[in-house]
Amino acid sequence: MNPLLLFLTLFATSALGANPPYGQLGISGKYLVQAATGLPVQLHGMSLFWSQWMAQFYNQETVTALKCTWNTNVIRAAMGVETGGYLDNKQAELQKVYAVIDSAIASGIYVVVDWHDHNASHHQNDAIQFFTNISKKYGNYPNIIYETFNEPLKVSWSSDLKPYHQAVIAAIRANDPNNVIVVGTPNWSQNVDAKNDSLLH
Ligand SMILES: *[C@@H]1O[C@H](CO)[C@@H](O)[C@H](O)[C@H]1NC(C)=O
Ligand SMILES: *[C@@H]1O[C@H](CO)[C@@H](O)[C@H](O)[C@H]1NC(C)=O
Ligand SMILES: *[C@@H]1O[C@H](CO)[C@@H](O)[C@H](O)[C@H]1NC(C)=O
Ligand SMILES: *[C@@H]1O[C@H](CO)[C@@H](O)[C@H](O)[C@H]1NC(C)=O
Repeated sequence: MNPLLLFLTLFATSALGANPPYGQLGISGKYLVQAATGLPVQLHGMSLFWSQWMAQFYNQETVTALKCTWNTNVIRAAMGVETGGYLDNKQAELQKVYAVIDSAIASGIYVVVDWHDHNASHHQNDAIQFFTNISKKYGNYPNIIYETFNEPLKVSWSSDLKPYHQAVIAAIRANDPNNVIVVGTPNWSQNVDAKNDSLLH
C-alpha cells in the first residue's frame, strides 16, 4: 500500500474511537486490573434500565451526558430478554444495544453488555446466539465487558447457573479471548459465595 494511504487509513481508524481510560482490562486474583500494569482499577458509572422499556436512553446523547457531566467511565446496556424484550423482538433490541456499544466506543468508556434476564438458563441458546454476535462484532474492542446473566432467581449455582455460564463463556471465548466476563450468582447476584447450595433452602 502507498505509505500516504496507509498513514491516512491508520489515522482515520484511530480517530473513530478513543481508548477507554485503562485500555484492556483483566482479572488478577479477586481484582479487576489494567492488563498492561496489573494494577487494580475501579470503574464507576450507570446502568440503563431494561432496553424494551427505556429505549429513549439507548443513544450517544445519554452516553455523552454520563461521561461528560457525570464523569462516568462505564455504562451498562441492559438487554431486556423476557416480557417483550429480545425473545420477542430480536432485531429491534439488538439495535438498541449496538447503539450504546457504538456510543461507548466512540466516547472512550467501557460498556457492560448485560443479558438482563431472570430465567436465562431456560434461554441458553438465545444467550449463546446473542453473545456470539456481540463478541464477533465487538470482541476486538477493549471497551467491552460481558455480563452473561444479571439476576438469577433462587436457583442452584452448581446445577443451574454454572453449566449455563460455562456454555455462554465458551461461545464468547471462541471469538474474544481477552475481555472480562461478569457472571451472575443466585438470588439476584447477592450470593457471590453460593457454592454451597444448601444456603438456597
Ligand atoms: C421466570 O421464571 C419464573 C419461574 O419459572 C416465573 O415465575 C417468572 O414469571 C419468569 N419470569 C419472567 C420475567 O418471565
Ligand atoms: C449479528 O446479528 C445481526 C442481526 O441478525 C446480523 O445482521 C449480523 O450479521 C450478526 N453479526 C455477526 C458478526 O454475527
Ligand atoms: C434472597 O434475596 C431476598 C431479597 O433480597 C432476601 O430477602 C433473602 O434473604 C435472600 N436469600 C438468600 C439466601 O440470600
Ligand atoms: C453448607 O452450609 C450448611 C448450612 O450452613 C452447612 O451445614 C454445611 O456443612 C455446608 N456444606 C459445605 C459442603 O460446606
